[in-house]
Amino acid sequence: MGSESSFSRRSLLKAAGVSGAALGVAGLGGFAGVANADESTGKAPPRPSGAKSVLGMPFEAYGDTIRVGIVGVGRRGTSLLRTMLNFPEVQVTAVCDINPDYVERAAGIITDTGRPEPAKYAGRGGDWSDTEEHYQLAVQHSKQARAHAKGKKADEWAEEDYRALCARDDVDIVVNVTSWEWHHPICMVAMLEGKHTATDVPLAMELDHLWDLVNTSERTQRHCIMLEQVVYWRHHLQLLNMAHEGVFGELLCGYGGYENEGLAAAFDTLNGGRYPEGWRRRWWYRRDGDFYSMHGFCNIAMYMDVNRGDKLDTIASMSTPQIRKTAFREEHVPSHDPAWDDPPYIKGDRCLSLVSTEKGRVIEVSHDEDVPSPYSIVHWLTGTKGSFKDHPARIFLEGKSSGQYDDLSDHSAGFDHWLWEDHGFDGDRAMFFRLFQDMRLGRAPDIDVYDSATWTAPIPLSTESLKRNGQPVKVPDFTRNRWQDYREWIDRPNPEA
Ligand SMILES: NC(=O)c1ccc[n+]([C@@H]2O[C@H](COP(=O)([O-])OP(=O)(O)OC[C@H]3O[C@@H](n4cnc5c(N)ncnc54)[C@H](O)[C@@H]3O)[C@@H](O)[C@H]2O)c1
Repeated sequence: MGSESSFSRRSLLKAAGVSGAALGVAGLGGFAGVANADESTGKAPPRPSGAKSVLGMPFEAYGDTIRVGIVGVGRRGTSLLRTMLNFPEVQVTAVCDINPDYVERAAGIITDTGRPEPAKYAGRGGDWSDTEEHYQLAVQHSKQARAHAKGKKADEWAEEDYRALCARDDVDIVVNVTSWEWHHPICMVAMLEGKHTATDVPLAMELDHLWDLVNTSERTQRHCIMLEQVVYWRHHLQLLNMAHEGVFGELLCGYGGYENEGLAAAFDTLNGGRYPEGWRRRWWYRRDGDFYSMHGFCNIAMYMDVNRGDKLDTIASMSTPQIRKTAFREEHVPSHDPAWDDPPYIKGDRCLSLVSTEKGRVIEVSHDEDVPSPYSIVHWLTGTKGSFKDHPARIFLEGKSSGQYDDLSDHSAGFDHWLWEDHGFDGDRAMFFRLFQDMRLGRAPDIDVYDSATWTAPIPLSTESLKRNGQPVKVPDFTRNRWQDYREWIDRPNPEA
C-alpha cells in the first residue's frame, strides 16, 4: 500500500467528512445516554503558558545512534530490551530497576550483543517488604513531579535512581516499563529532564495524570508515547487499510476488549513468583473499573480515525460482582501468603463500557483478567457494508460473502501494510522499528501523547462512570480542538522505500 492507496484514502476521507457529519446528527439522537452525561470530566485544563501543541512535531534527526535509558526490567521490560537490541542504531546506555538482580541480568543481555556495559541504577535494593509503601512512594513521586512541572524543585527525591537516569546526557529516550503507578512520575521526570519518553501500557492511571503528561509534553516539546504494539499486528493494519479504502462502508460500531486470565500470576507472590511485590493485586482493592482498555480499543479507535476526524465523546461503564478473585484465593493460595492480608477487593470481575464518538459511533470496551479465558484481544468492527470479528479473523461483506463469515484472508489481499510486506515483523518489532525509524529520520512519531492519553482515558473514566452508577461521563479532547483534521500516521508510506 504505497502512495496510490494514500491518495484513494484521502479521497474517501474527504467524502466521509460529509457523510460522517450526517451520521453524527443521526447517531447523537440515537444514543440515549449522551444527553445526561456528566460534563465535569470532559473539561480541558488551560494550556500552560509557553506550551504549544506537539501534533505532528518531528523528532530531532538522531541518525545512526539512538541512546536509550530503560527503567523497569522485569518481565515485559526484559522482553522489550531484547527486542530493541535487534536494531543496530540502539545503544542502551543506562538501566534502572529497584531489583538489582534484574539490572545485572539486563546489563548482561546488553553486553552479550557486543555493546558497552550500561550505567546501572539499582539503589533501592529490591526491598519488597511493604508493598503499600512502594505504592505510596509512587503517589508521592507523582505529587513531586507535578510540583516540579510547575517550577518547584523537590530536593528530597533527587537521589532516586530513575531521576539520575533521566538526567544523564547520554540518553535520548527513556523507555519506562515499570508497574502502573510509576508510569506518570517517570515519564514526567524524563520530559522535565529534556528526554523523549515511551512507556508501556497504560500511559497512566488517573485523568489528571494524563493531562499532566499532555501538558508537560507540550511545555517541554518532548514526545511522550505509549508503547502499544497491538495496533501494529498484521491483520490490524490490514483492517486499517480496508477501513480507509471503504471496504466496510461507513464505520458504525466496534468492540475492543482484553481477555487474559491473570489470577495465577497476580497471586503468585511466593517462591520467586511473577509479581513478588503483588502490584497487580493492589489495584483490585483500590477501585473498580477497566484497568487495561488499550489493547483492543486502540484498534477500533484507529480504524475510526479518532483524533484524526472523529473524537471520543462519552463513556458509560458497568461492572460485575467481584467473586472470582476471592474464590481463586480460597482455592489456590496458601494461608501464609501475603495475599490474605489484602484489603477487600472492590474491582468487579469484568468491566464493560460503551464509548460514543462525536460522529455518533459506538465502541464497546471490556476488561477481563479475572475469569477463566485464554489470552484474546476482543475485536469486532461493523460498518454499513460489512463486519469483522476476530479469533478467528473472519469477515462478512455485503454482496461478496454468502450467508456466513469468510476468512479474513479471502478478502485481505492487497491490503498489507508495508511493514509486513517488507519486513515480516511481529507487533513489538514493528512498533520499535517505526519508533526508531522516525527518530533516525527526524519525523513525527506514529503514536503521540494525544493518542496515548485518548486510548488510556477509559481507565480512569470507567471508574468515574462506575462511581456515578453507570452514568455516562464526558471524555476530554486531549488535542484541544485539533481532532477534526486527518493526518497520516501509522499508514504513512515507507520513507526509506
Ligand atoms: N504491551 C503488553 O503486551 C504488555 C505485556 C505485559 C506487561 N505490560 C506492561 O508492562 C509494565 C510492566 O509489567 P511487567 O509484567 O513486566 O511487571 P514486572 O513487575 O515484571 O516489571 C515491573 C518492573 O518495574 C520495576 N520497578 C517498579 N518500580 C520501579 C521504580 N520506581 N524504579 C525502577 N524500577 C521499578 C520492578 O522491579 C519490576 O522489575 C506494566 O505497565 C504492564 O502493563 C505490557
